[in-house]
Amino acid sequence: MSTNNQSWGSRVGLILAMAGNAVGLGNFLRFPVQAVQNGGGAFIIPYLVCFLLMGIPMLFIEWSVGRFGGKFGNHSTPYILDSMAKRPIWKYIGVFGIFTNIAVVAYYTYIESWTFMYVVHSVIGTFTGMGAAEISSFFDNYVTLSGSDLGIPMLPVIIYVLVMAVNIYILSAGLGGIEKVAKIGMPILVLFGVVLAIRGWTMGSDFASAEFPEANAWDAINFLWTPQYSSLLDPKVWLAAAGQIFFTLSVGTGAIQCYASYVKENEDIALNSVTAGFTNETVEIVLGSAIVIPIAAGFLGMDWVMENAGFGMAFQTMPYLFQQWGEVFGMVAGVCWFGLLFFAGITSSLAMGTPWMGFMQDEFGWGKVKGAVSFGIISLIMGLPTVLFFKYGYFDEYDYWGGTVSLVIFALLETILFTWIFGMKRGWEEITRGADIRVPGAYKWIIKYITPTLLFLVLMGALFTPAGNDWNGAISNLLDGQLYTLDHGSLISKFSHTDLKAQILLNPENTEMLEKKMFFASMARTQLVLLFLLIVGIVWYSHQKRKSALL
Ligand code: ALA
Repeated sequence: MSTNNQSWGSRVGLILAMAGNAVGLGNFLRFPVQAVQNGGGAFIIPYLVCFLLMGIPMLFIEWSVGRFGGKFGNHSTPYILDSMAKRPIWKYIGVFGIFTNIAVVAYYTYIESWTFMYVVHSVIGTFTGMGAAEISSFFDNYVTLSGSDLGIPMLPVIIYVLVMAVNIYILSAGLGGIEKVAKIGMPILVLFGVVLAIRGWTMGSDFASAEFPEANAWDAINFLWTPQYSSLLDPKVWLAAAGQIFFTLSVGTGAIQCYASYVKENEDIALNSVTAGFTNETVEIVLGSAIVIPIAAGFLGMDWVMENAGFGMAFQTMPYLFQQWGEVFGMVAGVCWFGLLFFAGITSSLAMGTPWMGFMQDEFGWGKVKGAVSFGIISLIMGLPTVLFFKYGYFDEYDYWGGTVSLVIFALLETILFTWIFGMKRGWEEITRGADIRVPGAYKWIIKYITPTLLFLVLMGALFTPAGNDWNGAISNLLDGQLYTLDHGSLISKFSHTDLKAQILLNPENTEMLEKKMFFASMARTQLVLLFLLIVGIVWYSHQKRKSALL
């Protein structure tokens, strides 16, 4: 029997912790980039539809699955899913709900460590007087461990380990520690976001320069918020919107189920889950879209943004732009920006520690400190190669297989379990028991039919992405009887390294680097598979233990 009798201190604490789990780097870095790359106002309608038809249903499912499992003393998905079905396979499918968290935290904490370092650099004025190119290469030098090939790069490793240690320290205080960080971190994050958003929104064309005469922050706001209905027929935009909803809500990871397993049997989950979901969406839509893109457009113009929108803007471009606001406000803006990213990151990475800790406590009686430290050790073993071999794409492999593909597979399987095996009737009872709102009856049908269909389409979309992500072209080619060509970014091409092999053919002069990348990609995948198998082994062993306890 589980010795794990923790529970949330208050409803506000639970909602903030859940919102903190969802609000992450995805809200401030991924969302604006996805919105720009998918046509701005063209993205927003598919995005909102995916939130209502896939995001909210997945939240209902994961919260109720978690609370149901918690009733039997299970706090992570292997035995939560096991308690919902007869077949033994479900506890092994539940392994995803621990695996994904460790795979993601391994590299996510690395980004967190950059944000921490950049707060320090903002305070000590490292970027003062540096030019745009210098600031951009400052970041490259940091992450590519300049000068050392496989040598030990001290600073990124030390900061990474330090940030991981902070996570472990907080986790070792259990739910109380997480709740406290969420209660402090979330308001600070919103405050910092509001400061930057107001500055971004009020820039107008005040910072247009001889080099960028067209610069105007309002262009970004118009671009993002003028709805364009033509996109409704473009599968590429729908897939991008669905992928963003997934990432931003943290569904399919197992962390929501773990948090919800500490909710009492008759306590509300309907209103709580919707509140946490809407909090995340407000932060994403209102603040996420009001910072990077408008500020960049205000200095560099929308054409520059369209060409350069990407993850790198956060660390390579923003510090330079902040300098243009003068030394003092430049520093304030840097602290706000990297500080909010840090809090967004840490409230998410803490959630990733809980499924492992919950499992080890339930099955082996491990206390909070032992659980947190063991989580830290495994995460470091998984994560250090992402730091050391960043430039060879180790990090990207984890993000793709652990942080993207696994989520969709797990969410799809979990939805099938919930609706078709556990049964929608019982499922609906779980969702509505103790509910403080009336859940619209339409969701019974949406959860049963539409959500799994959408998840299936997302998975198929990733498997068979057509060349150039041009779905309309590929479909009409198929109808004309022509061949269907896969994109190098499709799951199938990635699996067989077709993307890297094609690059070698195109750039023979880079063969050595690309071959190294292929080698490290295989290493990263091997490490992920070994992690998965290790957790399978632990679940199997715990099952034997449970069986012998029954005899
Ligand atoms: N949901 C978290 C984010 O948006 C993982 O970053």
